[in-house]
Amino acid sequence: MTRIAYVNGDFVPLEGAKISVLDRGFLFADGVYEVTAVIDGKLVDNEAHLARLERSLGEIEMDHPVSMEDLTALQLELARRNNLTEGGIYLQITRGAAERDFAYPKDVKPSLVMFTQERNLVHDPRAETGVDVITTPDLRWKRRDIKSVAMLAQAMAKQEAAKVGAAEAIMVEDGLVTEGSSSTAWIVKNGKLITRNLSNSVLPGVTRLSVLALCREQNLEVEERTYTVEEMYEADEAFITAATTLVMPVVKVDERILSNGAPGPIGSRLRSLYINMARATATG
Ligand code: PDD
Repeated sequence: MTRIAYVNGDFVPLEGAKISVLDRGFLFADGVYEVTAVIDGKLVDNEAHLARLERSLGEIEMDHPVSMEDLTALQLELARRNNLTEGGIYLQITRGAAERDFAYPKDVKPSLVMFTQERNLVHDPRAETGVDVITTPDLRWKRRDIKSVAMLAQAMAKQEAAKVGAAEAIMVEDGLVTEGSSSTAWIVKNGKLITRNLSNSVLPGVTRLSVLALCREQNLEVEERTYTVEEMYEADEAFITAATTLVMPVVKVDERILSNGAPGPIGSRLRSLYINMARATATG
């Protein structure tokens, strides 16, 4: 079946989906994006994704091409047209096409592009075994709180991981873990969960937010603070969270085996709680 994409008002076959070479997303990475998980054909945590999208747009003084309500309807229509029951919807808004010049052009219409990707989320086999990760220097810019499409540093980090068969690269700055190349990083020590506090150094993960709420419900103690690579090596368990992995247990960090090489109890429990919550609250 041909995948259908959405480009500036039209649903079109993916092969025919086109954007101008002058689009500032292409020339300057002048754009922002979101990935919403789809489970049972419904949108998971989508309100929080759209709230973050709105914030990202505000931070770069960009208009939204459609209202957030219309956007939800378009996401659902795209999922429907692609018969997507499980996977994700990628959504990108760029400043639009204009003569190449660095400062923001006036009177340019932003571009909105969306496409779907099928993905095993609930029955991801990696959740049974846990995943290996590596650590790598964080090479990114200083506004990582904006979900910008400038992803070269993350692509380089992920490639480092891929070269050694690891699923994720955990980025490190000044000896402190920032986050995964496309995920939030968590550790567990003595029953306490630790994840980095929000700042311009990390993306405010939507899955992170929901997992924090689940921890509160479960009376699990959480510390939102910086932590070192050594703390990650010494952790009882670790996991990553993202719309593409949900809660994914980590069993190896560089050469250190965690939780005897099997998914830890807290990460596994949070994964199943998150999936239940996602199913119960998804939009669609
Ligand atoms: N990435 N940190 C970074 C740098 C990310 O790129 C992502 C998600 C996250 C987790 O955010 P959330 O829980 O809202 O998905 C944290 C998406 C999934 C991607 O680029 O594919």
